[in-house]
Amino acid sequence: MLLPALELTKVSKDFGRIIALRNIDLTIQSGEFVSILGRNGAGKTTLLNIISGVSKPSSGLVELYGGDPADTENKSKLAVISHEVFLYNNLTATENLEYYASIYGVKDAEQRIKDVLQSVELMHRRFDLVGTFSRGMTQRLTIARALLHEPSLLLLDEPFTGLDQLAIGILISLLRKQKELGRTILLTTHDLHTAKELSQRYLILEKHRILHDGLMADTNPDEIRQKYFSSDRSGE
Ligand SMILES: Nc1ncnc2c1ncn2[C@@H]1O[C@H](COP(=O)(O)OP(=O)(O)O)[C@@H](O)[C@H]1O
Ligand SMILES: [Mg+2]
Repeated sequence: MLLPALELTKVSKDFGRIIALRNIDLTIQSGEFVSILGRNGAGKTTLLNIISGVSKPSSGLVELYGGDPADTENKSKLAVISHEVFLYNNLTATENLEYYASIYGVKDAEQRIKDVLQSVELMHRRFDLVGTFSRGMTQRLTIARALLHEPSLLLLDEPFTGLDQLAIGILISLLRKQKELGRTILLTTHDLHTAKELSQRYLILEKHRILHDGLMADTNPDEIRQKYFSSDRSGE
């Protein structure tokens, strides 16, 4: 039987006295596209950090492809897109990608770098220093960098926040393509319409727990907003 991409068993995370996650049980199969929804402070970023191995759970078990998220083999299967840029201003776009290609042992790196630069519409700026890039260009290069090594599992933490329109369009179409390629994708967002457009399954995190785990097809964004995010629930 095929291993799930991801399996969390009774995962909890505390920061001192602050509870961030409580007893999370979650299985995600390869090829699923899951949106993680929830108010600020619900634990979404903590959950992604635990899945990527950046953060260790206080208790419970996290298995990525049957192993520890921090295993080198797993690291190369994973990409994270968040607000952090991870690019060097004093290198050109191509040099940045060459650097990451060498870290990840990307095969046929020269062609692959061209492909990802094309996919984010940056070929014409490939020999320019990243320090001279506009914010939008830097954002697009960050996306290119994340996809360079063809990760099997993509973790996106509010990736649309702060992106310009062009970058949003590019990211959405790249995510559709990643989905077609059978990649496993976890996305946190407050944009319920985009979540519905892209993902099959959604989770609602609230008060450190999974409050709901359902199929997008069975609902619509306004229903979700009304049911889980209307202001009269905030005091619960
Ligand atoms: N490094 C940290 N130190 C202390 N508390 C943290 C830390 N990271 C997150 N938290 C707390 O954990 C809870 C969940 O945060 P987070 O995962 O960032 O939520 P979300 O991404 O859903 O907004 C919040 O109460 C937050 O303040
Ligand atoms: Mg967050």
